[in-house]
This record gives sequence, C-alpha cells and structure tokens, in this order.
Amino acid sequence: MRTIDWADGAIEIVDQTALPAQTRILRLSTVEELVSAVRRLAVRGAPALGVAGALGVALAARLHGGEELRVAVHTIETARPTAVNLARGARRAAARLAEGPDAVLAEALAVRDEEIANSSAMGRRGADLVLQLCGGAPRLLTHCNTGALAAVVGGTALAVAFELHRRDALGSVIASETRPLLQGARLTAWELGQAGIPFRLSVDGAGPFLMARGEVDAVIVGADRICANGDVVNKIGTYAHALGAAAAGIPFLVVAPESTVDMDTPDGAAVEIEDRAADEVAAGLPAANPAFDVTPHHLVTAIVTDRRVVMPAGSLGSGPAAAAGLSGGGADDGDAAPVGGDGGHPAAGATQLA
Ligand code: MRU
Repeated sequence: MRTIDWADGAIEIVDQTALPAQTRILRLSTVEELVSAVRRLAVRGAPALGVAGALGVALAARLHGGEELRVAVHTIETARPTAVNLARGARRAAARLAEGPDAVLAEALAVRDEEIANSSAMGRRGADLVLQLCGGAPRLLTHCNTGALAAVVGGTALAVAFELHRRDALGSVIASETRPLLQGARLTAWELGQAGIPFRLSVDGAGPFLMARGEVDAVIVGADRICANGDVVNKIGTYAHALGAAAAGIPFLVVAPESTVDMDTPDGAAVEIEDRAADEVAAGLPAANPAFDVTPHHLVTAIVTDRRVVMPAGSLGSGPAAAAGLSGGGADDGDAAPVGGDGGHPAAGATQLA
C-alpha cells in the first residue's frame, strides 16, 4: 500500500489522522481537499509532502487555468512552510505547466518514483552505517514518524530499522510518542507492529535519560529541511534528543533524501518554523506549539541520504564518529565522509553541503 498515489484523475492518500484505529483511504479530487489534507496532517512527512505538492499541481493543471491555476499552485506550495519538499515538489511539477497537464503529471509521477527509490537506498546505506558505528544488534531510538507513512513506501530513518530487521541485525527500537500529535505513538508504533518489529514507546522527555542510562546505541531521525551548513530542521523534540545523544556520546543520525537538502537556506536560523494551533497542545489553554526545531550541525554525527553519507565537520575527531574510525573526505558512495565536495574540510564549525 502506497501512502500517496495518483489514481484515475485524483490523489489517493492513507488518512493518517485515522491511524492506528482505522486504515482509511481518502480520495482528493480538488486542490482545496489536497491543501486541507496537508494542513491537518492527513498526509505528512517531508518526502510524502513533496509528492503531494507535485501531484497537487498535476491535479490543479487538470482543473484550472490562467490566474486560478497560478493561485492554486501558490496555495499548494505554501500549505505548510517548513518541509522544503512541499514547495520543491510543487515547483518542479509547475515548471512543466506550459507543456500541458500530461507533462505535469509525468513530472509528478517521477517525483513519486524517485522517493520510492530513495527509501530503499537510504535503508541500506543507513543500516550499513549503524552497524559500522554500533556493531551488532543496535538499540535504536527514533523520534516522530519516518516510515512509509512519511514517504510513499519504506520511509527514511525508519527504513533503516526495517532494513536492519530484514538482515536480522536489529537489537531493539524505542519510539518517542512525539507530542502533541503523537506521530510516534500512533504512526511509528503502527508501522513497527505491522512489520513485526518489537518496540517500546517512550514519552518525549525520557529519551535523553534512556541514553544516559545506556539503553540506546544510536538515535535515528528524519528531517524536514537540511540547511547548507548542515543544520537539521525536524519535528519538535529532535534538538533535545540530539543534546541527549551528545551528552551520552552516542551517534545522532539523520536520514533524509537529497530532495530534503536545501542549499538555498544557509542555516537553521533562516528556516520558517511552523507554529501550529494552541489547542493541539491542550484544549482551551494558551500554548506555544512550534511543530519543528533546529538541531545545529555540530550535534549531528552523520546525515545519510539516498546518495551519500555526510559527516558534518563539527563532529569529526570526537565522539562516535572518531570511535568508529570514520575519517574525512568527500564521497558519494561507500564509507561515511564529511560533506565538502572538494574532499577538504570547510572552516571548523561550519559545514557546506555541496
Ligand atoms: O509535522 P509532520 O508530521 O509532517 O513532521 C514530520 C517530521 O518531522 C519528520 O520527521 C520528517 O518530515 C521526516 S519524514 C521522513
């Protein structure tokens, strides 16, 4: 089952607001229905949002023209601000508008197919790195949901757990519940259960202590936007888990497709963080509810994409990367390496993703 797909002139998604109680397929036949599904997280997760953006424009190209079409495209690409994939997918499809609706749909389906291929590549590369860093039977902690529900199939960070399980090399998984919308307790738990992978849930605040108590070998998360300097924007609570991992001296791994690497955004401070409604936190009470946070590059042990493993320069020479004998150098395939396309190390502390 694909999380999102094109079917007979409309977009079909697994309604993630109904999970885990119900596996409900929603058929989205208008731009308004698509935008509403994005805003209320019936479809969510960076790669899935990229596909939603592209398919949304394909739908708009069939239903609208002229100014109406321009407005529809803008509404789709700005439905949520933080995950770079949404606007990127929409713009990529929109770039084919002059060629007609079939060309736009072909581009959108190409975005879908690329994310499908990206998931298995990230799963394999991430599993290799985790075994390299942690040895056999690694005990993983993950935050938010980064499985097939956040992509089309497979996922990103959770695809690494699926791959380790497939290799019979996975130790255990702790999934943080991920308040306030419980992507961990509702979606990750459901996916792990479907895959027959034993897991435990934890409250978000427990993660750093579980690491300090020696119950976790590596933290593995996704990303909504990876900035040019290596800063990582992801679900609120990720930064706290990165601080916990650094204090415990264990790897903090980010798994995301190249489609989430945003070279136009220099660092985390430049990213618009979505602030969502207070009543998601507690009904009727005033609340601060940023949906994402920024993990500075120096807390990131490695970024695993579909094409490469990147070691933000700031973490080299200390902690788990050094312990595993991972050295510098720009490389697309094979062993982990720092970013720098030129193989050299950028200035200490700042990483330029080439
Ligand atoms: O608000 P959400 O559920 O869309 O947030 C999703 C996340 O933060 C994920 O970790 C991220 O998009 C990566 S998904 C593979």
